[in-house]
Amino acid sequence: MAESITNFIPLAKPNILEKDILLVNEVLRSGMLVQGKYVTELENSFIQLAKSKYASAVSNGTATLHLALKVLGVKEGDEVIVPAFSYMATANVIELVGAKPIFVDIDIQTFNIDVHKIEANISKKTKAIIPVHEFGLSCDIEPIIEIAKRYNLYVIEDAACALGAEYKEKHVGTFGHFGSFSLHPRKAISSGEGGVLITDIEYHDTKVKILRNHGTEIINGKMDFSDFGFNYRMTDFQAALVVSQMNRLKESIAHKKKLAKRYSNLLDSSLIQLPHTPNYTEHTWQTYHVLLHETINRDRIIEQMKLKNIGTNYGAQCMPYMQSFKEKYNLNCDMLFPHALSAYKRGLALPIHDLITEEQVEYIANTLNYLIKQK
Ligand SMILES: Cc1ncc(COP(=O)(O)O)c(C=O)c1O
Repeated sequence: MAESITNFIPLAKPNILEKDILLVNEVLRSGMLVQGKYVTELENSFIQLAKSKYASAVSNGTATLHLALKVLGVKEGDEVIVPAFSYMATANVIELVGAKPIFVDIDIQTFNIDVHKIEANISKKTKAIIPVHEFGLSCDIEPIIEIAKRYNLYVIEDAACALGAEYKEKHVGTFGHFGSFSLHPRKAISSGEGGVLITDIEYHDTKVKILRNHGTEIINGKMDFSDFGFNYRMTDFQAALVVSQMNRLKESIAHKKKLAKRYSNLLDSSLIQLPHTPNYTEHTWQTYHVLLHETINRDRIIEQMKLKNIGTNYGAQCMPYMQSFKEKYNLNCDMLFPHALSAYKRGLALPIHDLITEEQVEYIANTLNYLIKQK
């Protein structure tokens, strides 16, 4: 059994440097706190990284998804296809526009939507698909786009966790009508709360920028309000916090790749299903997510790891299994979404971020290997 350590290793921790803080201070002193030059700079750096035509920074990743659905006109009576396993935000926004989420099970190896199960769930009411690039791993997006084209559906890529991820060397979020990113502290880089929505379609981008600001539009040279919008604006000090983190993204992903490799070499694969990376992509390791053997009590492991000063957690929800969706749709998750349910009940996210060393990974892996054998 590895020696105990005294400092707690958190599951995630943003890497904020002194220069990031100085930039935030500069904005605070300027008095121009909302939607200033750093918001524009952040949007431009997303355009550069993803090679999209447009980008809009907003208040969080949930707002980006909500705006995308609004702009595409998804509404009551419509259906939207989503993987059953994701963070609740992915399906909540569908409810928020009055539409119905149609849950599809995941591939248990990648934790992304099972592409082969999409078509059977398309109906006359289907308007869009929201594929998720879960845990920083691109989903198999090409066949999804092909299906969407065949059925004339919109695609909003939920890339909340996948900044820097590519599918066949093209950045995720650029395949569909919109690509949505989160800047929450659990993500690769963080503005505290924040989100960015990218698109190649000028009309869509214009509409996003109008709706994020209460419907504000210049009409006949005068400021007016052309639609019923939201306050989804990002503050300039949040944008300032994240602009230089963008320059460190590649380095951060490279560091996490090393850590992930170390985990995969050390963990006991007879009782732990290790992450799988298909050959159309490279993992960016927003989360290192494993599946514990069904004989292991995952929640007890989380508690025991905590006692060993290691922060772990389950990875994402089986959304139709959560109370809100259970009450509304009462779907038989065991039968319809066995993989999503299994990932929710047996999944474990291990610490992986810029501030973790390979020695700490060794300690975490050895501790987990030890605990799973103590039945
Ligand atoms: C897959 C997914 N979609 C959407 C979101 C929502 O992003 P935010 O927390 O920035 O609103 C998250 C956040 O964790 C997420 O993991």
